[in-house]
Amino acid sequence: MDGDLIALVNKLQDTFNAIGGDAVDLPQIVVVGSQSSGKSSVLETIVGRDFLPRGSGIVTRRPLVLQLIHTQGLGGGASGASGQPSLAPSSSGLNNRRSSGNSHHSANDDNGYLPDLSGGSNGGGNRRSMGGDTGIDYAEFLHINRRFTDFDEVRREIEAETFRVAGQNKGVSKLPINLKIYGPGVLNLTLVDLPGLTKVPVGDQPTDIERQIKNLVLDYISKPNAVILAVSPANVDLANSDALKLARTVDPRGLRTLGVLSKLDLMDAGTNALDVLTGRTYPLKLGFIGVVNRSQQDINLDLPMEDARIKEQEFFQNHPVYRNISHRCGTKYLAKTLNSVLMNHIREKLPDMKARLNTLMGQTQQELNSFGDATFLGEQHRGSLILKLMTEFARDFVSSIEGTSLEIST
Ligand code: GDP
Ligand code: NA
Ligand code: MG
Repeated sequence: MDGDLIALVNKLQDTFNAIGGDAVDLPQIVVVGSQSSGKSSVLETIVGRDFLPRGSGIVTRRPLVLQLIHTQGLGGGASGASGQPSLAPSSSGLNNRRSSGNSHHSANDDNGYLPDLSGGSNGGGNRRSMGGDTGIDYAEFLHINRRFTDFDEVRREIEAETFRVAGQNKGVSKLPINLKIYGPGVLNLTLVDLPGLTKVPVGDQPTDIERQIKNLVLDYISKPNAVILAVSPANVDLANSDALKLARTVDPRGLRTLGVLSKLDLMDAGTNALDVLTGRTYPLKLGFIGVVNRSQQDINLDLPMEDARIKEQEFFQNHPVYRNISHRCGTKYLAKTLNSVLMNHIREKLPDMKARLNTLMGQTQQELNSFGDATFLGEQHRGSLILKLMTEFARDFVSSIEGTSLEIST
């Protein structure tokens, strides 16, 4: 039921995207933090693939709106050891093909990162848990009409699109790149990656780059229904966190900000972040979750994500201080938390969405009436057909909301 609900919301978003509108303000999870705090790393581990352009300095120069879409695997485990979904090609979905040609990618990389919440839990030692944990089928950009099945290509396309619109010289553009990733092994989440907060212009950046990026970030996080994923590196005092500072300006009571503490492995010996992780340092209703992403060396050595995940889990389980809260730490727990946050958020917004849709339906119906019978109209009136389709869709949407057991007060 919950999954259906989010699928429905995704569909609605598509409908509005298609007509270039933003009529319904759907919740999105927006990643915010200073440059190199680990934002792209966190996003990648949530998805379970290398696909974001990375590097030191400003790499993310346009917003990336990333929609993860959970699809039902068809067969499920019939194809031998790898348990590939039958939808996938023989190589089982998206691959990272590396020039280095490391063989470890061939066996493990087809395993999508986060299992469906309804699927099996993570069995210790068994990397490939049973059930829906079978990965990713393909990716699709809004600006290109084709499916991508290779994550290296996805990354190259993000880079090319970034250069095309934001130029060659470290400039930043507000125009988002829209990317969808489909598969039985992803959770239904929409995430937005943003350029990191910086202080000093580099290269040919304008002198007001700090303000420009701040405004770009504010555009996304000031929406009342945005869920802010505020990434702070644990090796920098939390009092200096740009992420929390900016999040606070739009969410002063910390109601829709989820703290992520990255780089826990890089803290000074003898220090730990237990007070932050248990909420004693900085109050956030959604709390703080600690993660350990791949280090630059891990990336250079091409450490598979699956291995990094296990390493992360072991880090928490074996840590003298974090051992007791290890079940509330790590990327996997972060993804689960995000999903339930999103769900609650949508639930809270349903009455409002319904009211807006009703208004839209009324307006659209009037417009349709003024056109007469849309089916006799030619190409020049395609707009009215879209309106008609939207009206029908909106009607379905509202009735399906009414069909759920959720309480809708209006
Ligand atoms: P972004 O600029 O915020 O998107 O940060 P990136 O995800 O690109 O990470 C910047 C650098 O920090 C990369 O070299 C990562 O490998 C490294 N990094 C990120 N998170 C961690 C972490 O938890 N531990 C360690 N050791 N390195 C990390
Ligand atoms: Na960076
Ligand atoms: Mg980045």
